[in-house]
Amino acid sequence: FDKICYIGCGVTTGIGAVINTAKVEQGATAVVFGLGGIGLNVIQGLRLAGADMIIGVDLNNDKKEWGERFGMTHFVNPKEIDGDIVPYLVNMTKRGADQIGGADYTFDCTGSTKVMRQALEASHRGWGKSVVIGVAGAGQEISTRPFQLVTGRTWMGTAFGGARGRTDV
Ligand SMILES: NC(=O)c1ccc[n+]([C@@H]2O[C@H](COP(=O)([O-])OP(=O)(O)OC[C@H]3O[C@@H](n4cnc5c(N)ncnc54)[C@H](O)[C@@H]3O)[C@@H](O)[C@H]2O)c1
Repeated sequence: FDKICYIGCGVTTGIGAVINTAKVEQGATAVVFGLGGIGLNVIQGLRLAGADMIIGVDLNNDKKEWGERFGMTHFVNPKEIDGDIVPYLVNMTKRGADQIGGADYTFDCTGSTKVMRQALEASHRGWGKSVVIGVAGAGQEISTRPFQLVTGRTWMGTAFGGARGRTDV
């Protein structure tokens, strides 16, 4: 029971968000905001899916070691960087000939509407997908400029990682 209870929520939601909802492919770049029980399982799912660059973002430096145990390749503490987290992550995800930057996939695992916006805006123009997993406080609203969507980003959400409980768990 001590293991099955995790599969009944965190593992299925995190791995499901990667595999069922975002449909991450091999070699992808990804950013995971919030490295609690959900975020660590998103990292685990990204590793299973074969993502190349898995950036974890958390305000708590103690989460770095946990993230690494689950497959995180880079860690960012937003309190310890100069300036805004979005351009910082966009810059980090510039690879090879791609000088635009932005992650192929981003995940909010905090429930903060501010972080949800950052996650969307840190995804790649043209094809980036950003998945809202965190549950925001009652009555809160998300916002961004429509430009962020019309330039090809997809904002999506997941419940229980899109899993069919009876068969998938
Ligand atoms: N969609 C679903 O089906 C589903 C299922 C389960 C849980 N959830 C939700 O997922 C969220 C995460 O759950 P959890 O158990 O992992 O929570 P948690 O509290 O264990 O982890 C949240 C993490 O986010 C970090 N964090 C907070 N603010 C941050 C910020 N501004 N920038 C970066 N990191 C920040 C915290 O330091 C913490 O490590 C919750 O909102 C929960 O309700 C959703």
